[in-house]
Amino acid sequence: MTYDDVGRGPPVLLIHGFPLDRSIWRTQAAVLAKSFRVIVPDLPGFGGSPALEGPCSMERYAESLLALMDRLEIERFAAAGHSMGGYILFAMLRLAADRLERLALVCTRAAADTDDVRRAREINAARALAEGPGFLADSMAARALGAQPEPAVAERVRVLIRAASPAGVAAALRAMASRPDSTPLLAAIRVPVLVVAGAEDLIVPEAEARAMASAIPQSTLGLVRGAGHLPMLERPDALADRLFRFLTEG
Ligand code: MLT
Repeated sequence: MTYDDVGRGPPVLLIHGFPLDRSIWRTQAAVLAKSFRVIVPDLPGFGGSPALEGPCSMERYAESLLALMDRLEIERFAAAGHSMGGYILFAMLRLAADRLERLALVCTRAAADTDDVRRAREINAARALAEGPGFLADSMAARALGAQPEPAVAERVRVLIRAASPAGVAAALRAMASRPDSTPLLAAIRVPVLVVAGAEDLIVPEAEARAMASAIPQSTLGLVRGAGHLPMLERPDALADRLFRFLTEG
């Protein structure tokens, strides 16, 4: 697994979403590294990390991240997960809740897919394997960004999607489609949680993020204005500042 390991201090794991790679966290990692040890992996099948063999699941991604933290001799850590990275954090809560010290759930949801979404994911998985993920670039970039995206940010997202590996994309789509509903977990989370919502997010609307936050006992909602589903790229400094404050507050 390829990853960055920067800074010194309490450990923080940053988990990217679909179908991106660890580079999306560049600004936040640089800011957090002033006070934290920041671990930023490419999920299996994305960036420089090889895809897992066989069918994938959020649990398998979580296990590979826990194995990375074991190799780095990090027992307990804070973690931020973006979208699919949040689904992976829910799997980590099922597998090893005692290792998580605090969580930032960024533009993500607890609910499982609807049947329509599952069907669309399977069509896209087959298509990604047949022709590569490039066909997702324009539609996903448009849907993921807020109302007035900066052209350079939109282009960066398209480039990332086009560069993703067909096998990694197909495995992630199928893994997302098979993930369970994590809503029943929310009331049992025993650590502080920051729920981040992009005010213009079309993929996880603000109202859904607010409902998730209100179901988690020790949670606060951080609304990022002027951002859609990718606040780490659209409002990088605002998100970095919000994460820093969350991780340093008592
Ligand atoms: C992501 O950003 O990780 C995806 O939009 C999540 C999803 O498709 O459910």
